[in-house]
Amino acid sequence: MTEIKKVGVVGCGLMGSGIAQVAAAFGYNTVVREVDDERLAKGMAAIDRFLSKGVERKKLTADEHEQILGRIEPTTDLSKFADVDIVIEAVLEDLEAKKKVFAELDAVLSDEAIRCSNTSSLCITEIAAATKHPNRFVGLHFFSPVPLMDVVEVIPTLMTEAELTKTVTEFSRSLGKTPILAPDRPGFIVNRLLVPYLLDAIRALECGVGTREDIDFGMKLGCGHPMGPLELLDFVGLDTTYYIANIMYDEFKENRFAPPPLLRRMVLAGHLGRKSGRGFYEYAE
Ligand code: CAA
Repeated sequence: MTEIKKVGVVGCGLMGSGIAQVAAAFGYNTVVREVDDERLAKGMAAIDRFLSKGVERKKLTADEHEQILGRIEPTTDLSKFADVDIVIEAVLEDLEAKKKVFAELDAVLSDEAIRCSNTSSLCITEIAAATKHPNRFVGLHFFSPVPLMDVVEVIPTLMTEAELTKTVTEFSRSLGKTPILAPDRPGFIVNRLLVPYLLDAIRALECGVGTREDIDFGMKLGCGHPMGPLELLDFVGLDTTYYIANIMYDEFKENRFAPPPLLRRMVLAGHLGRKSGRGFYEYAE
């Protein structure tokens, strides 16, 4: 099995920063790359903020906060990935963007390095097939907020070496996560079940089954969910959900994956949820 000592994370947005933070928190020297200094600084500030709040909540000490940050090397330069044992790509959900990143990584990484994508919707096989070493490629899907959600999906393709799947499964355990094995089908396991539920909640709102508050309170208090579906949609992002739903609908051609008209219109209107200050609810800037 490949021994993992150093982790590379490509992308320091919401998911990439969370993944880099978790890797460093569990003792790995971690290099994280963004395309420019501004985005890199924003991602590192998000990590710092989360850790500071953790210190306030007495989840970690001020020393541990510093040690975790000290294990993260922020960079805009992919050549810093030459000695990583595993790379986790978490750039925007765009097939061409991901292929470009892996083409650049192919020129830098060792042949043995493990390549992972954190895509939540794209076909892992399609990304892997475009790389030099598709046998060393596996999907590794984290959930948001990464430091707090305990599960990851491990998604091998028909080309993935069996040993590699085991190594990545063990690696995710070493990050304090519970790995589940998922097929390379749109939505893997969690989104395959979650997305139709979220879309149904929008349909319920659209046809007057209940108010936004009653739908959310019903599911929170009636089913013990931490967030109601409309609140969760705002948290995940309406554009992200719309994108995932379209990919699922294109592949399966089942109506339950079809984005409802209200979702499309909210995305067109720029009501994307928390990130834009407005979705099903309004948020202070
Ligand atoms: N540092 C350390 N711990 C922290 C922390 C921090 N900065 N912030 C919060 N925590 C801990 C808290 O201490 C608390 O732990 P304890 O219960 O042990 O005390 C726990 O996290 C919960 O914190 P809060 O009480 O502040 O917040 P909350 O109860 O409102 O929970 C939440 C926040 C975890 C986000 C919760 O609302 C939740 O689970 N929501 C659902 C999230 C979800 O479904 N995510 C998946 C989205 S789908 C996806 O990601 C996949 C995709 O492809 C789209």
